[in-house]
Amino acid sequence: MWSANFAAPLLAAVARDLDAGLVPGAAHVLDVGTGAGYPALELAARHPGLKVEAIDPWQAAVARARARGVAAFHGDLLTWEGGPYDAIVANVCLNVIPDRAGAALALARLLRPGGRLYATVALRGILRELDRAAARICGARQVLEQVQEQRLTVMTLREAFAGAAFSQLVVEVGHFPLCFESGTAMAGSVPIRLGFADLYRQLLGEDGWQRLIAVLDREHGIAFDVPFALLTATRAS
Ligand SMILES: C[S@@+](CC[C@H](N)C(=O)[O-])C[C@H]1O[C@@H](n2cnc3c(N)ncnc32)[C@H](O)[C@@H]1O
Repeated sequence: MWSANFAAPLLAAVARDLDAGLVPGAAHVLDVGTGAGYPALELAARHPGLKVEAIDPWQAAVARARARGVAAFHGDLLTWEGGPYDAIVANVCLNVIPDRAGAALALARLLRPGGRLYATVALRGILRELDRAAARICGARQVLEQVQEQRLTVMTLREAFAGAAFSQLVVEVGHFPLCFESGTAMAGSVPIRLGFADLYRQLLGEDGWQRLIAVLDREHGIAFDVPFALLTATRAS
């Protein structure tokens, strides 16, 4: 599962900090951009003492998360007024908030002094393999490169947090493999369908997108190596 690959090191970091007493066992935790309830559900299952709530501005996702038992609310990180929280988790959410510095300030505002932040993001280079195939098949190399240029790097992630009240900020990078046996399987998968297909349609046109899928079908699919980062930090006192 796409989200679980990003969340694995995040969940391990929370468990490590609970063990070390950096996060209290009955901590009040906010999951920002929970989508259908992840990783709020997983956190609550692994650490039943935690009081986990979640926000997302996407109404349908909030309804889905609630149906799965998450205390989820319709809300935007930039304007949310709950807390203060002992810890905040955000799994592949900061990527989709254009005001990155504003997001960092909001995270600091919502945490109590000493509270811990755990955020994963996809890094520049994500789906580079698809960009290469698209450039080969549809010839849109320049626009695809421009899109990659906008994506987060460790440096731009750190820059976004530079003005927010955090200490002990650590960024760890990793990557995970993701393979599809055909272009059709890739295009129909949840992360591509919900997170990327519209962008590629916009850049390549519907014809180009369909041509790309057809060629990948003939070539027996595509393999990705997905780069990501886990940012952990402490709200400064
Ligand atoms: C890639 S999804 C990740 C969902 C979930 N965390 C997971 O791991 O499966 C990003 C989520 O961030 C939410 N989001 C977008 N802008 C947001 C904002 N300003 N504040 C909070 N959440 C936001 C989206 O609605 C979406 O559900």
